[in-house]
Order: sequence, then C-alpha cells, then structure tokens
Amino acid sequence: MFFITTAIDYTNGVPHIGHAYEKVLTDAIARYRRLKGEEVFFLTGVDQHGQKVQQSAQKQGVAPADFVAGVTEKFLALWRKLDISNDAWAATTDPLHKHCVRAMLRLLWENGDFYKAARAGHYSVRQEQFLTDKERGPDGEFGPEWGEVVLIEEENYYFRLARHRQWLLDLIDARSAAGRPLVTPEFRVAELRNAVEKLAGDLCISRPKSRLEWGIELPFDENFVTYVWFDALSNYASFAGYDPTPGADQSLFRSRWPALHVIGKDILVPPHGIYWPIMLKACGFADDDIPSLLVHGWWNIAGEKMSKSEGNIVDPDALADTFGVPALRHYLLADIAIGRDADFSEERLVQRYNTDLANSLGNLLNRSLSMAKRYRAGSLRRQPDSPLAGFVAEKVAAYSLRMDAFDTQGAIGSAWEIIARCNAYVEESAPWQLAKDPEAAGRLDGVLYSLAEAIRIVSILISPFLPAPAAAIRAQLAWDGPLHMDQCAWGLLADGHRLGDPVPVFPRIG
Ligand code: ME8
Ligand code: MG
Repeated sequence: MFFITTAIDYTNGVPHIGHAYEKVLTDAIARYRRLKGEEVFFLTGVDQHGQKVQQSAQKQGVAPADFVAGVTEKFLALWRKLDISNDAWAATTDPLHKHCVRAMLRLLWENGDFYKAARAGHYSVRQEQFLTDKERGPDGEFGPEWGEVVLIEEENYYFRLARHRQWLLDLIDARSAAGRPLVTPEFRVAELRNAVEKLAGDLCISRPKSRLEWGIELPFDENFVTYVWFDALSNYASFAGYDPTPGADQSLFRSRWPALHVIGKDILVPPHGIYWPIMLKACGFADDDIPSLLVHGWWNIAGEKMSKSEGNIVDPDALADTFGVPALRHYLLADIAIGRDADFSEERLVQRYNTDLANSLGNLLNRSLSMAKRYRAGSLRRQPDSPLAGFVAEKVAAYSLRMDAFDTQGAIGSAWEIIARCNAYVEESAPWQLAKDPEAAGRLDGVLYSLAEAIRIVSILISPFLPAPAAAIRAQLAWDGPLHMDQCAWGLLADGHRLGDPVPVFPRIG
C-alpha cells in the first residue's frame, strides 16, 4: 500500500496558498500512484490543539472547540472544492486520535523515556517553545520571529531525545546508502544531518494546564496536557490505525505503514526530521518503518514571506472562484520546481491557464474533434502505424520517471510536449487539404486517429493534475477505459470508435 500524508494545517488561521499547494501536490502524487494500480491511503487534516488556537479563540470570545469547528469547516470545504482525493481526515480533537496519543504517552512513560524537571527560561509564546542561547541573534536578543518572549519557571515532562542522536545519524546515512533517502530532495539530507549533529538536550512534551488547557491530557498526570507537536505528529499513526495499547489489533495499521510525509521546508527541522523519527523509535518502530519525508518549498509574494502582519496572504478559495479550479491546480503544479521556492503571481496563473490549457490543449481537443466530426461524422478508422506513436511512448516514459521523482513540473512538461507535437502535426498534415483529395482518404483517417489516440493518452497523463477536465475530455472522446497507466499504450481506440461532440473545456480568461 502507498501511504501518503500532508502536514495537518493549523486551525488558528485561514487556509492560504501554501496549504493549497501542499494539498494539490500530495493529491497529484496520490492520484498518479492510483493510476499505476497501487492501493493508496491518502491522509490529510487539521491541527486543532495548542496555545495559538486557544489564544485565537479567546480573542474572539468563543470556546476553542467552537472556534476550531468553524475553521475546520473552511479547510474541509476548500479541499472539496479543489478536488482533493484524501481517503481519511485527521482532526486532532477526534477521540480516536486522543486515545492513540495517550496510549503512546503511556508507553513512553512506562519505558522511562520521560522525566519530570523544573526549568526556568525564555519562552516564545508564538513558537510555543523554550528558547536557548542559540536562538539569540547577533545582537544577543531574540528576533521578531519569536514574537513575545517571556521568562517562566515551571515543572514539565521531558522526553529523552538526545540519547537517540547517534541512532538517527546512522539511520540517515543508511537510508541514503540504500537509495531510500530519509529526506527528498537530496540537498535537504545534509541540512537535517547537520541539525542532528547539534542535537543536545531533551524535548519538553508537556504544558501545565494553568497555562494551556486546550490539548490532550497526559495519561499519567492530569495537571498537564501534551505539547502540540507531540499531539500533531502522532496523527500520521493514529489515523492509520495505530494503537500501542497491549492486545490492540494492528493488522490494518501494519498494511499501511510506513508513510511518505509531504511537508514544507519550515517543519523538517526539528519536528519531522528529529522529533518524529525518535518518537517512533522510542515506541519500538523498526528502522525500515521510519517514514520518508518529501520536503517542498514555499510560495512567496514578491520574494517575501506571506504573513498576516504583511497582509499579503493569498486566498486559494477566492482564486478558485475567480479563475476556476483547473487554473489554480495547474498553476500550483506547473510553476514551481519540487523542493524549491516560487513567487506567487496572479498574472502568471492567468497566463499559464490561457497558454497551456485554453490555447494548447483546449484548441487541440476542439480542432481534432471538430475535424473528425466534419470529415468522418466522428467515426475513426483504426491505423496500426502513426508518426506520433513513438514520440508519445517516449514522453509517457519520461512522465513516469518524473512523477516517480515527485517532479510534477517536469511531468506536466512531458504531457505538454505531446500536446505541442500534436498541434504541429495538425499544421504539417493539413487535414483540411487532405479532405479535398479523395486519394488522401487513408492519410486523413490516419491523422484523425493519431490525434484522438494522443489526446486519449494525454487525458490519462493529466488526470492527476486536472481530474475534472481529464474526465470531461474522456467523455468527449467517448472513451471509458480504465483510468490506468497501462492504458497509455498506443492504439487502444477501436476501429469504428465514435468520438463525442466537442465542447470547450477551457474557456479563455480575460
Ligand atoms: O506547520 N508555501 O501548520 P501550518 C508553501 N500544524 N507551503 C507552506 C507555506 C507557503 N507559503 N506556508 C505554510 C503546521 N506552508 C503544523 C503542521 S504536521 C504534524 C503539523 C506549509 O498550517 C507548511 O510548511 O503552519 C506545512 O507543511 C503546511 O503548510 C501547514 O502549515
Ligand atoms: Mg507554519
């Protein structure tokens, strides 16, 4: 089974373009793996506990539970609108999740992985963590990224992280050597390794209820809730069926695990690259069962970080309403290289839609179906050979390699090379000339068949990125074969196949 997750989004704010990118990227990968015939379990959801949420709720004068219910509905509605094909939904206030987190905490407590200690220190309210001297800037102060920093002294529970430092270093190296790197893209492996090298000290995994109530209570001390990252990271296991309670049936979980976690670059170090593998190791997971991480880059605005205070948050819901879901999905998957940052631009979004979808693909579909209808009443004569067949097979192979490497931009490029080749082929073969010449009837049949075949294959290749338009194209081709990569073989449209009528799928914007 192929198990893939996104990060779970904080419910202290509203969904933004970064959230939408991660969802669409993960959705495209999940849909591609289904296309290959793999059984897929795609999990996404929301991170509902923690101090930020408690503060946001307080500001609005509502109970945290009501506050997160409202925000969660916004996320859910957006993912439905954007055609996100998740198989399960991880909401961390779910009783199933709370049960699992408490069972994990109990296991680690009983194993002696936690200890209680009093500590005084600088605490960042925004980042919900204690700060050390290494977080100080060159001026000796804690920078603005930490928000309000307060001095507190309190007792808490600590997780013995540092004892697993060498194990994690060895795991990172072993996985790279085995060709199954812990982190993709490759350049992030070094970033993680350097951070693990510096790992010292333990992780505070509790918050006293006097300060934070909105969380999961420790099973061994009712005066504390667990730290939001311990809670949040565990979602990947709990919603896949994990339950460390002795005697619990783990067969479903075993069939799914391990996962591939798709995350943004800001949450590699320390949560996903350090805390999570060590949490799993301490819970008894084998090295081969430590999940891999696919780390994507950020969408920025004119080179700057999106932020509430800058007021430059891009709303994917409004973009989908204004320009349509295909325009948004295509832009997010085609205009950023996997692992790298990109600048968001509404102009680029419209431009890519008009160029790639309305002009290149839309026109090809429309002219091909129109000609077949005009010259052959929509009926195809199957031709064994085509000047396009070899080219298409090459691009299908390139597409697969790129999708296997999570390179959506490259894979889209391969599909669009087919489209460009087909448009050139229409010009070269000039079917409107062939139609005037009775001697050229066979050649005209060949051109019309080749175009329909190529479009059919393109409709399969684009289905992970543009599921609804791909279905509309398949309907117009009157093709209802299985949605599977093996259907990209040339020549599956039967002799005498009747195409449907052309209906514009991508009306131009602007
Ligand atoms: O970090 N561009 O939640 P979150 C691309 N709840 N991706 C972006 C982005 C941007 N501008 N801004 C954020 C959290 N992201 C935690 C995760 S997982 C157990 C808990 C990505 O709502 C970010 O990197 O701040 C993360 O992967 C996801 O959006 C959710 O961010
Ligand atoms: Mg964040």
